[in-house]
Amino acid sequence: MMTDDATRRWQDTQHIDDLWEGDMVGVEIDGTKVLVVNVDGAVRAFENKCPHQAWLLDEGDFDGESITCLRHMWTFAADTGAGINPDDTTLKSFPCRVNADGIIQVDVE
Ligand code: FES
Repeated sequence: MMTDDATRRWQDTQHIDDLWEGDMVGVEIDGTKVLVVNVDGAVRAFENKCPHQAWLLDEGDFDGESITCLRHMWTFAADTGAGINPDDTTLKSFPCRVNADGIIQVDVE
């Protein structure tokens, strides 16, 4: 994991203090729309694009456990991105971390 972590191209998003548990935010990194969520203190990053018809997921709902797309109400587990309804799809996820300064960083490559 250490080697893997060191070779990543981490890019800053925002401070963890600005993303409380149960919050989500849409950011753009190198032209990639990214959805960052705080699930019980663990940060996750997904492509901010619904696999159904590419709707922006940050316009939907996050109840702390699941992300619901506003367009047709597809639902995904926020900790893994796995589809709940329907269950045969998944969100594309990106590696992410919180660095020593509290900055949420994502690798979109
Ligand atoms: S575009 Fe997201 S559920 Fe249809």
